[in-house]
Amino acid sequence: MELFPVQFLLSSLILISWSDYVGANSLRIQPFSFPSDSAIGKRVSVTCTPLTGEKMEFKWLRNGQELASGRNNINILSYPLLSSLVIDPLTAEDSGNYTCVVSTRGLTGSYTTKLDVLVPPTWVTTPSDTDASSGDSLVLHCKGAGRPEPLISWSVTLGTSRYFFFIQSI
Ligand SMILES: *[C@@H]1O[C@H](CO)[C@@H](O)[C@H](O)[C@H]1NC(C)=O
Repeated sequence: MELFPVQFLLSSLILISWSDYVGANSLRIQPFSFPSDSAIGKRVSVTCTPLTGEKMEFKWLRNGQELASGRNNINILSYPLLSSLVIDPLTAEDSGNYTCVVSTRGLTGSYTTKLDVLVPPTWVTTPSDTDASSGDSLVLHCKGAGRPEPLISWSVTLGTSRYFFFIQSI
């Protein structure tokens, strides 16, 4: 009867010291993300802030590849306590997974976030004027590009009407 509280105390102590040990070997980073309206041509930035540690070294990766500051549209501003990644101007090729890797005195940590660059819709294939006789089948081609993927819909004027009606696929 007397033993139970002592055992409980002991297992709590072991749990606490184990979680301290795990925490001491990895630097936790404050979560960060790119704006959801990151569009082509804009400037975006994210800041990597470890919750502990001093005099830290920072690295930034895109899809696992280290980024170099000053190359293309990438600028990395690192300080002892935080590091900012600036992309200016955004291009479609900048979409991907961005990782901040931080290290100091044998401790390391990383945080990864995704960047989806929005690209306005553009034409790839425009339908062209076509004559057809009644009873013929007719194929018109239409294709767009962009991110997210553009939705395509067709509409038609009937007879001499100037009003367009959407065509539903069957
Ligand atoms: C980014 O990470 C996600 C989730 O881990 C993965 O599904 C995706 O393939 C990655 N994208 C690239 C371009 O590596």
